[in-house]
Amino acid sequence: MDPNFSGLTQRLAKANQSHLLQFWNELSPTERADLALDLQGMDFQEINGFFKNAMEMSNNKQEKMDTRMEPVPMEVLGSVTRNRSSLKAWELTGLQCISQNKVAVLLLAGGQGTRLGVSYPKGMYDVGLPSHKTLFQIQAERILKLQQLTEQRHNIKCCIPWYIMTSGRTMEATEKFFARHNFFGLDKNNIVFFQQGMLPAMDYDGKIIMESKGKLSMAPDGNGGLYRALGNQGILEDMERRGIEFIHVYCVDNILVKVADPAFIGFCVQNEADCGAKVVEKTNPTEAVGVVCKVDGHYQVVEYSEITLETAQKRSPDGRLMFNAGNVANHFFSFSFLKDIVQTYEPKLQHHVAQKKIPHVDAKGQLIQPDKPNGIKMEKFVFDIFQFAKTFVVYEVLREDEFSPLKNADSQEGKDTPTTARHALMSLHHLWVLNAGGHFIDENGRRIPAIPRDGAAGSVTDDGNRNLKDGTDMPIQCEISPLVSYGGEGLEELVKDREFHPTLMIDENGVHQLVKNGI
Ligand code: UD1
Repeated sequence: MDPNFSGLTQRLAKANQSHLLQFWNELSPTERADLALDLQGMDFQEINGFFKNAMEMSNNKQEKMDTRMEPVPMEVLGSVTRNRSSLKAWELTGLQCISQNKVAVLLLAGGQGTRLGVSYPKGMYDVGLPSHKTLFQIQAERILKLQQLTEQRHNIKCCIPWYIMTSGRTMEATEKFFARHNFFGLDKNNIVFFQQGMLPAMDYDGKIIMESKGKLSMAPDGNGGLYRALGNQGILEDMERRGIEFIHVYCVDNILVKVADPAFIGFCVQNEADCGAKVVEKTNPTEAVGVVCKVDGHYQVVEYSEITLETAQKRSPDGRLMFNAGNVANHFFSFSFLKDIVQTYEPKLQHHVAQKKIPHVDAKGQLIQPDKPNGIKMEKFVFDIFQFAKTFVVYEVLREDEFSPLKNADSQEGKDTPTTARHALMSLHHLWVLNAGGHFIDENGRRIPAIPRDGAAGSVTDDGNRNLKDGTDMPIQCEISPLVSYGGEGLEELVKDREFHPTLMIDENGVHQLVKNGI
């Protein structure tokens, strides 16, 4: 194939990207065809524009972000602890919206899971629970259960459509996984997969990086790639057709995620918000979570990488961190707001720059693994649209109930690992059993003392991880299937006044006590 075909060489020359064809003569016919196909689908002027703007923004940003930040004002804040008396009403409002088929969930699952170090989508990860359920399965079962709970309360059939954003890196494996598991019992017509865009990695001179002689180095365009994809993949139309009015957007990695959380949805709906963010209190200045705040008067999340330690350490008079609204990546959007974003505001969103060590081929075609950053990846962030909200609200929940993300492998630092995720889920479920009147006994038949909420079962250390002490530095082995309980409800009849040996598993087939397996 001749690269002059369809004017490719001219287009590349005009965009200053001619180096992409430097190994053309060395490529096989298939490699040539693949490369030509990739290049023909790309808008180089647009990509160069993204690069220029992203670099400009990144250079300007570092300077004064800290001086422009203000904490979230109390009047937009709802809290599961401070507003306990409103919780039930929020939940009922949320359930009513679900019963009217107005609520959808949208999962961001296009990331590459680089830190976790697996080659497959993170949602397929098994953190080693007694049931060995994956993150995808846990989320699917929570949706199923919530549909059931709503149906029971409202005596009407309902569904919560599940939109799953994947990327070129995760699409095929994700779809196959769902099909292989029979969509975890959900109706497959209510699961909609779609794909976000990819962008090339660039060197600091704006040249696209090649990972081999015939292949560009491509990466997903960030979880904010959502908005472009919603438009160009027909997802907005699908939502409109189904009559969706409220959307809960969340990230794949949080094992405790309350998918379509009725209380969160109800809180946002009652406040007539077009956009809402769920947060937990950030207690350690160096914890790797973004903080929800205002910048120049507009709501925004400032990522952990974009804030100086000095600002992150600032404290309010009550001793809490001044910027303590830790983003758990659970967002609420009204459909009309999303539509405005896609149709009007998306092009105004700027890409963020991540400096990376990007493997590439040198002029001789040798593969180089750099030991320091040699280029950038460009990403939009899902929360960059907060600034356009007319009514923005923030909903604060307890970390031990709702937030334990899986980011790192067990072999790495001890934070946000499969072990911490597994322990967080089991500690929460232990607490559910205690709250429902059940007890645990040790191997000598003695009751293991019930542990108060701020004690070992649910306490959180300064770095945001759980402090688990039951005498063995392990949580009680206890797992409750989401098919049995969405948020701790409905357990009394199964556990009240009963004594259990760990490992306890409660699933749709009943209550099981397994031989201790030292998980
Ligand atoms: C994210 C939040 C951060 C928050 C933290 C909580 C963003 C940009 N940052 O950080 O503020 O405190 O979670 O755990 O949201 N994804 C895509 N496409 C992409 C890239 C990522 O769908 O191109 C998805 C991932 O699959 C994942 C989610 O977005 O579900 C978060 O991505 P990740 O890179 O893990 O974000 P964090 O840096 O951990």
